[in-house]
Amino acid sequence: MIHQRLRPFPDHFLWGSASAAYQIEGAWNEDGKGLSVWDVFTKIPGKTFKGSNGDIAVDHYHRFKEDVALMAEMGLKAYRFSVSWPRIFPQGRGEANESGLRFYDDLINELLAHDIEPVLTLYHWDLPQALMDEYGGFESRRIIEDFNAYCVTLYKRYGGRVKYWVSLNEQNYNFNHGFITAMHPPGVKDRKRFYEANHIAFLANAKAIDSFRRYVPDGKIGPSFAYSPAYPLSSRPDDILAFENAEEFTNYWWLDMYCRGTYPDIPLKYLKEKGWAPTIEDGDMELLAKGKPDFVGVNYYQTITYEMNPLDGVSEGKMNTTGQKGSNQETGMPGLYKTKRNPHLETSNWDWAIDPIGLRIGLRRISSRYGLPLFITENGLGEFDKVENDGTIHDDYRIAYLRAHLEQCRQALNDGVDLIGYCSWSFTDLLSWLNGYQKRYGFVYINRDEENVKDLKRIKKDSFYWYQNVIQTNGEEL
Ligand code: BG6
Repeated sequence: MIHQRLRPFPDHFLWGSASAAYQIEGAWNEDGKGLSVWDVFTKIPGKTFKGSNGDIAVDHYHRFKEDVALMAEMGLKAYRFSVSWPRIFPQGRGEANESGLRFYDDLINELLAHDIEPVLTLYHWDLPQALMDEYGGFESRRIIEDFNAYCVTLYKRYGGRVKYWVSLNEQNYNFNHGFITAMHPPGVKDRKRFYEANHIAFLANAKAIDSFRRYVPDGKIGPSFAYSPAYPLSSRPDDILAFENAEEFTNYWWLDMYCRGTYPDIPLKYLKEKGWAPTIEDGDMELLAKGKPDFVGVNYYQTITYEMNPLDGVSEGKMNTTGQKGSNQETGMPGLYKTKRNPHLETSNWDWAIDPIGLRIGLRRISSRYGLPLFITENGLGEFDKVENDGTIHDDYRIAYLRAHLEQCRQALNDGVDLIGYCSWSFTDLLSWLNGYQKRYGFVYINRDEENVKDLKRIKKDSFYWYQNVIQTNGEEL
């Protein structure tokens, strides 16, 4: 679709940026906070790049006023952050920790005082370790009630001030790594357990959304989905079939459940034959039907290209977590699909394909299939940054990436997608889970690395000033 004239971004478009508790807060054991699974997992030798962890992270817990002041200076309209569940319930349930609740009170108030719309994520992977120890976290249905009680506590406390809420962040990505590649906690490789736990997470998500309707009737809620739209490697029918498989198994399995409350038929039948399908108990489908969101949160970084994978084909491949370009390996599901490098796309140093048009394609696919408003809750470029001798940081590659993606957002809006906002990933640099601190995403540089916490000084990159102008001109000047 080529438009002759482009309408502008809508008024009230949520120009935002995002973060997550474990990646920025630090203060891992302060003011009554309990352990999260990441506090424990990152300490296991060999799990993260150079053994990096979020004990101190970028010390946002103590410096949030300084960070919000920078957001205000930039003119940010929305800021997406997550609440750390074990900061609120150190044991996962029971009595709430008032200091933890107060921290987010203060953060929300600070944002509102600067006219920044808070976008609160309920769960960005930091499950209380106590619940993992007690019943295996998402492998037990007990988590549905505990997660609901935690969410209701936040609804009651912040519901009057926070309008936009994200339920689960990237359930697909997090569970894939938790139960297939073993790169996230609980570090398991077992497809049956993967689909079972994932089903329980869907139930927890639906229950939390159902409660939201009662406690925050005027609010908006949706999950954030890690959407990597699938491409076929070629027009060979085999590759088209592989791409269809990938779209159904890696995307619609989640999106259909969130938006329609059902699993797609073909993958479900296949998983039943393999003995991997989740157990669906009486009442599950009724609850899942109540989980329909107000918007779909889209976390977009790249498209993934697929070709057919034979029955004895590849299933595991090493992931590039070092920034050594070219070290990423193919992966797949035998009999369904395997990943291939797209010959038409450039990649980052972490081998992530750079594909702005893929964002437009993805937004259109979700919009056409489900007819819901969309909110880009993450999009950004993780790269090495260099501080020049004069203290400046010229991240023109990041500006080029964000500009190209925002151009495609505007195209998608003109195509008819109801896009309500865009949160870049991320506002400040932060801990990139498995990739340490050297994979930087922020508009604001944080002076630290894996070995050395240094002074954690905040330095505005060129992209800071660029995005400031984008917001000021409501996207007219990209
Ligand atoms: C998403 C997560 O997977 O992408 C973020 O929601 C994460 O928490 C971001 O940081 C970028 O991924 P990575 O692995 O490069 O940090």
